[in-house]
Amino acid sequence: MLFYGRLFEIDPSTKVLFKGDMKEQGRKLMAMITAAVNGLNDLDRLVPVMQDLGRRHGGYGVQDNHYGSVASALLWTLEQGLGEAFTPEVKNAWTETYILLASVMKEAGAKVA
Ligand code: HEM
Repeated sequence: MLFYGRLFEIDPSTKVLFKGDMKEQGRKLMAMITAAVNGLNDLDRLVPVMQDLGRRHGGYGVQDNHYGSVASALLWTLEQGLGEAFTPEVKNAWTETYILLASVMKEAGAKVA
């Protein structure tokens, strides 16, 4: 909830895109992030999953610039939750992971939009 609150504050244009139950949405997002982090060492399997996800996001009306807003909100939320454990190294790892996932999703999403 912290994450979506922050996202809608820094980029109000994202709010209209979400039409379902936000608790359920949060669960799906966390499940997908967990799956993605666990899949980082097996990119051959992860990439097609993220491409499908990116194509669905194109259908939800998500634009490329929204990925930057989600990045900021996600990193901010992690910092709130992790406090001192959110070291520069941890921040870098999350940033790189997000950039990788978002670039795969954006590329696939652009092909349907
Ligand atoms: C790494 C980045 C992201 C991940 C892992 C992710 C994950 C997910 C997942 C798992 C779902 C559930 C539905 C499905 O599987 O198709 C979903 C739905 C959705 N996501 Fe994302 N997402 C990401 C980025 C974004 C961005 C940048 C936006 C733009 C604001 C966004 C907006 C939405 C919307 C609007 C829905 C559908 C909500 C509804 O049905 O009402 N997502 N996302």
